[in-house]
Amino acid sequence: MAKSKKNTVFFCQECGYESSKWMGQCPGCHQWNTMVEEQISQSVSGSPGHRSPEEGQKPCSLDEIDMQTGERISTGFSELDRVLGGGILPGSLLLVGGDPGIGKSTLLLQVCKCLSEQQRNILYISGEESLQQIKVRAERIGTFGSSLKLLCETNLSVIETIITAGRPQCVIIDSIQTMYHENVSSSPGSVSQVREATGLFLRLAKSLQISIFIVGHVTKEGVVAGPRILEHMVDTVLYFEGDRYAAYRILRSVKNRFGSTNEIGVFEMRERGLVQVANPSEYMLSGKPAGASGSVVACSMEGSRPILIEIQALVCRTNFGIPRRTAAGTDLNRVNLLMAVLEKRLGLPLSGCDAYINIAGGIRMSEPAVDLGIILAIVSSFQEKVISDKVIAFGEVGLSGEVRAVNMAQQRVAEAKKLGFETVMVPYVSMDALKNIRGINIVGVRTVKDAIRSSVFAGCEK
Ligand code: TYD
Ligand code: MG
Repeated sequence: MAKSKKNTVFFCQECGYESSKWMGQCPGCHQWNTMVEEQISQSVSGSPGHRSPEEGQKPCSLDEIDMQTGERISTGFSELDRVLGGGILPGSLLLVGGDPGIGKSTLLLQVCKCLSEQQRNILYISGEESLQQIKVRAERIGTFGSSLKLLCETNLSVIETIITAGRPQCVIIDSIQTMYHENVSSSPGSVSQVREATGLFLRLAKSLQISIFIVGHVTKEGVVAGPRILEHMVDTVLYFEGDRYAAYRILRSVKNRFGSTNEIGVFEMRERGLVQVANPSEYMLSGKPAGASGSVVACSMEGSRPILIEIQALVCRTNFGIPRRTAAGTDLNRVNLLMAVLEKRLGLPLSGCDAYINIAGGIRMSEPAVDLGIILAIVSSFQEKVISDKVIAFGEVGLSGEVRAVNMAQQRVAEAKKLGFETVMVPYVSMDALKNIRGINIVGVRTVKDAIRSSVFAGCEK
């Protein structure tokens, strides 16, 4: 970066792009009007260049690394532990993002409750709520151990002193956008402030082996407000998502240096805080109408776990020139593609039909394995044929109408069996892998045509 005479630089508030002059459009993320002028501070404590060589660490070999700190701490929620990759790793920096009111503060306070019951030292720092407000929330959740300490503070130097002196095992920062450093003149929530604050927490987490949870607000586009840099700096990024009007919440890991991503945890918001949903399939299928056309159960993998979902389709003749199509919970382009496959390969006159596809429960599933379920739901609605409640289907559908293999077929079938399904429709190529499974009827299909002609449809005319 060219050194500016004014000692100010321009930052993009969306992606953190840095420039010496103002620009209407950010070259980094191509957003308009996001560049904001900010002072660059003299003493940026986050930069490693300030350390003297004596303070710095020497390079060492893998054998020399002490692994005693490697044991993970359970959060009290097995759903959250799994998303984290087996619990909280000491010394890790975690970002929890999500829409306002989704339950980030509630979740973390409940984690505090569990850790305080284990007599671990925890510090909850809130920049948003007063101590009284936190207490009101805590009273709804239950009783806490005395090892939980609360603090209302937004000044980073004060927080640094308190953390260094108290050495808690776990710190919660609610939220990063309220924290500020005196030496940085821009307002809290700006790129420089967020970067400075995250840098400080990163250093504290790594040097003192403290796990630090950072709460980050999400913009309407669904990314953490402020710079992308935040996501790069932390070890783990968790997103708490869900429909505000539905009771359940899904915790998704989008980055995890110490575990797998794409694991999800399912929670339900109740009167007394969040409760984990141990069997999401059962939960997603509750309320499935019996004997209705256009409803099919499909199976999608979320990380290592199969989740059964109900796909609903409503296909009816269009009253306008151009048919309307909507897809809630899945990709509309994929639905259009599958309808074109049905039209071309089976000769179904769908181009004159409106089609509405919905994944019940508000969950989003975009795995190609739900293709076969979508196809069956569309045909079921179009032909007014009911598919039995005891049937599930999974498989990817290709452009020639072929049903292609999907991974982890055994786990999917096992989940269906566990929930009492009697028949599962799978890609024919996966049959080999499933030949040892007993107690459930497995129907292999090679093409979409096979699927529609199979016994699953026959004899169920409404
Ligand atoms: P909150 O945790 O404050 O969300 P965030 O920190 O993500 O902004 O919001 C929780 C919401 O859940 C709030 O609307 C109130 C509701 N709630 C319950 O339904 N039950 C509870 O026990 C608690 C504590 C909150
Ligand atoms: Mg909050």
